[in-house]
Amino acid sequence: MGGRVLSVASECVPLVKTGGLADVVGALPAALAAVGWEMRVLLPAYRSLRADAADWPVVWSEADLWGGPGRVLSGEVGGVPLLLLDAPHLYDRAGGPYSGPVAEHPDNAVRFAALSWVGASIAREGLEGWQPDILHAHDWQAGLAPAYLGYGGSCGVKSVLTIHNVAFQGWAPAHMLSVLRLPGHAFHPDALEYYGGISSLKAGLVTADWITTVSPTYAAELMRPEFGMGLQGVIAARAPAVSGILNGVDTEVWDPAAEDPPFSAKAMAGKAAARASLSAEFGLDVPGPLAIVVSRLTDQKGIDLLPAVIPDFVLGGGGLVVLGAGDPGMENEMRALAARFPGRVAVRIGYDEALSHRLFAGADAVLVPSRFEPCGLTQMYGLRYGTLPVVSLVGGLADTVIGASPATLTAGVATGVTFHPVDAMAFGRALAQLLALYGQPRLWAKLRANAMAHPVGWETSAEAYAALYERLTA
Ligand code: ADP
Ligand code: GLC
Repeated sequence: MGGRVLSVASECVPLVKTGGLADVVGALPAALAAVGWEMRVLLPAYRSLRADAADWPVVWSEADLWGGPGRVLSGEVGGVPLLLLDAPHLYDRAGGPYSGPVAEHPDNAVRFAALSWVGASIAREGLEGWQPDILHAHDWQAGLAPAYLGYGGSCGVKSVLTIHNVAFQGWAPAHMLSVLRLPGHAFHPDALEYYGGISSLKAGLVTADWITTVSPTYAAELMRPEFGMGLQGVIAARAPAVSGILNGVDTEVWDPAAEDPPFSAKAMAGKAAARASLSAEFGLDVPGPLAIVVSRLTDQKGIDLLPAVIPDFVLGGGGLVVLGAGDPGMENEMRALAARFPGRVAVRIGYDEALSHRLFAGADAVLVPSRFEPCGLTQMYGLRYGTLPVVSLVGGLADTVIGASPATLTAGVATGVTFHPVDAMAFGRALAQLLALYGQPRLWAKLRANAMAHPVGWETSAEAYAALYERLTA
C-alpha cells in the first residue's frame, strides 16, 4: 500500500544531533522509502542550518508564528527529505538546539510548540501536491503536534508519537495554556495537565492515535513506576495503543568493511591492526580485553559505576578508553581514572564521530551499564564490529544482546555479556566474566562471530513501522 508521513522532530542526522534521536529521525526516511512510505522530516532551521536552505523554495508560511514570521523551506540534505521551519526569532540563535552558550533557552516551550503547530497545520492542510496520511511526532519537542491535530477537530490524518526518552517531558506553567494555543478544556488530569502545569509529552500521549517507543522491553517498562518517570499511569491507560519497535543502525555508516583497515567476520586481521593503532594513539599497553565507552556522561548511562569496577578490571588485564562528554563531575571522575591507570585507561572528553569509529573498530568490548535505555545504539555498533557488548538488562539493551551463560554458550547463541541489577556488584561480575571469556580464544571467536551475524539494520523495524501506518490508515 504505502503512503506519506510527516515526521516532526528537533534533531536529525546529518544536520543536528545531541543523541540517538537524531540518528533515528535521519535514518527513517530511507528505511521507510524501501517499504513504500514517503517520509519528510520537519525540523527547526537552527542557525547552523539556515545557510543550507537559503535558496530552497518556500512551501508554507505564517505571518505571526509566536512573535515573528515563520516559513517552511523544502529541500534535501544527505538524502533526507527535509522541511525546515525558518523562524529566526525562535531558532536563529547561538548554541545547540535546546541551549545557548550558557543556559537552556527560556522559551523552549514556545519554540517547540511552534514546531508542533506547524507540523499539525501541514498534516491537516497538506502542502501543494503533498498531503500526508500520517503525522509522526518524536519526543516531547513534537508532543504538541498530535494534540494540535486532535484538538483542531477530526481529520483523516492519523498521528503517531514515539517516545525516545521519557525523562524529558516538556513541562510549562499553567498560565502558558492560551499562549501555547491550547484549549481550556485540555487543562485536565485526563488530558495534558501535569503537576499543575502543562506537559507536552503527556499532551501527545493522550491525543496520538498510536504510541510507539524504541524497544519492546522499554514499552513494557514505561508502564511501571521504576521507569515511567511519573507518566506510567498515562501510558498504561493507553496500553492497547502502545507498541515497541526496535531502532536499527545505519549499516553503511557503521560498516567494518568500510573502516581503515577494513575487516569482516571472515577476515579479522584488520580488527587486530585497528586495536594496535588505537593502543599507539592512546599510549596503551593492555594485555587483556580493551573495552570502550562512547556515551553521554550522565546518570542514565551508569557512568558513575565505572570508578568502582574498573580497578579490578585493570588488575585482571583489561583496559579502557572512554569517549564522552556531559556531567562535569563525571568528566572529572573519568579523568581521574585515566590518571590513576596510565597505559591502561585513557579518556577523551568531547564529541568525536571519527574517533568513535576507530574505537569500535579497535576495541574488544563496549560497556553500556545504563540504568534505563529506551533502545541504545552503541551496543548495536558493538555487535556489528565484533566489539562485544557488556550491557545492563534494561530496555533495548535487553532486546538486542544475548548474554553469555552456560545455556546460551551451549546453544551457541550468546552475543555479549549482560548483567542485572544495575549496580557495581553485578557490573563487576560482568567484567570478570568478560575477562574469563577473553581468556578462552575459541569461545571468544565464537561470541564475536555470533555478534557480527546478528542483524542490526533497519529492515525489520521499517517493516514494523510500515505495518503500523498501514493499520492506522486502513
Ligand atoms: P542517547 O541517545 O541516549 O545518547 P544512543 O545510544 O541512542 O543514546 O545514541 C547515542 C549516539 O551518540 C550514538 O550514535 C553514539 O555513538 C553517539 N555518541 C555519544 N557520545 C558520543 C561522543 N562523545 N562522541 C561521538 N559519538 C557519541
Ligand atoms: C534516546 C534514548 C536511546 C535511544 C535514542 C534513539 O536518546 O536514550 O536509548 O537509542 O533515543 O531512539
